[in-house]
Amino acid sequence: MKEIRVRLGARSYSIVVGSGNLRTLASWLRRSGVGGDAVVVTNPLIRRLHGQKLFRALKQGGCSVKVFEVADSERSKSVKVAFSLVEKIARYGADKKVFVVAFGGGVIGDLAGFVASSYKRGVPFVQVPTTLLAQVDSAIGGKVGVDLPSGKNLVGDFYQPKLVLADVKLLSSLSERQVRNGLAEVVKYGVIADTTLFAYIEKNFEKLLKNDPGAMAKVVTRCATIKAAVVSKDERETKGLRTILNFGHTIGHAVEAASNYRIHHGEAVALGMRVACEISRRLKLMSALEAARLETLLTALGFSESITGIAPAKILHAMRFDKKFKGKKNRFVLARSIGKVIVRESVPPSVVEKSIESFLA
Ligand SMILES: NC(=O)c1ccc[n+]([C@@H]2O[C@H](COP(=O)([O-])OP(=O)(O)OC[C@H]3O[C@@H](n4cnc5c(N)ncnc54)[C@H](O)[C@@H]3O)[C@@H](O)[C@H]2O)c1
Ligand SMILES: [Zn+2]
Repeated sequence: MKEIRVRLGARSYSIVVGSGNLRTLASWLRRSGVGGDAVVVTNPLIRRLHGQKLFRALKQGGCSVKVFEVADSERSKSVKVAFSLVEKIARYGADKKVFVVAFGGGVIGDLAGFVASSYKRGVPFVQVPTTLLAQVDSAIGGKVGVDLPSGKNLVGDFYQPKLVLADVKLLSSLSERQVRNGLAEVVKYGVIADTTLFAYIEKNFEKLLKNDPGAMAKVVTRCATIKAAVVSKDERETKGLRTILNFGHTIGHAVEAASNYRIHHGEAVALGMRVACEISRRLKLMSALEAARLETLLTALGFSESITGIAPAKILHAMRFDKKFKGKKNRFVLARSIGKVIVRESVPPSVVEKSIESFLA
């Protein structure tokens, strides 16, 4: 088991990564000083698969446990669902020392974190992520929020958890598509910060796709360490550092939206990373050889080599609605090599368009 610290002064917290470490939750809760009344936010599927293990661990820590389920859908990440949860917690816990436990993937984590940040102007909150994407990315860093009809993640805040407990055993029930979805983010960490991690994925991609617990624990630990370091230096994305976590995401978000979410986040990010490398290559920032290394790895992991069924105009249109676009200037995280990225503004639109077009089927 590994403990990683997110260092943010009074808001510092631990990320604990292991295999089977959900059993140790009680002692970590005691250390992080949350209350005694756990309100668990989850969905019916995760509750059925893994709920008993969590409830047992909470009760062992002497906590009372109340469970609120939401539907298994991105649509649960809404203002309506969030405030109905706040209302339910208020009715249940007026006289209690409530803390919120997010037990699920990124949807549950973002929603439950937002609920915890809103109820009584903030109650303690613990993340127990159950998808690979949530363990390496969304459960860490305090971005909480919900979607609006006009766009994803448009309401929310930075609200740090008191603890993140990532147990890779919980990942055993994920489908291969969901594992792959998370692996796109794992590859991203390799490209932005860690050649050793990238080489590890190249060597162990089959184990990772098969959800091997040892390989999973290794990459989750490494990714969580990288994200913790970035967040510790730039909590609110004001210093430009946190921006590098968006490698592959400018195009990725646009592809996701333009496909009406038929293409999943990780699949879209994989395409986004391919396009970002192509832009980097066209701007002579990255060698063709390095770009080919990323291409090869993404293909080995089973990611599509081309964008199918979406018009480039639709992707460019979706990009203009990206929160990360400052005014009219575009902004891309581009690669110099595997392990090193830079942020570039005002990339010529023709280069962006040609790069997207080179991946059309
Ligand atoms: N806050 C952040 O920093 C951040 C970062 C990245 C993504 N996100 C958000 O995360 C969300 C996506 O997260 P996700 O990919 O985890 O999707 P998700 O939460 O929808 O989970 C994917 C599916 O896996 C199921 N599932 C969860 N755990 C499982 C398990 N152990 N076994 C079997 N099935 C399981 C879920 O029920 C769901 O059907 C998006 O809303 C995105 O905006 C947030
Ligand atoms: Zn992502």
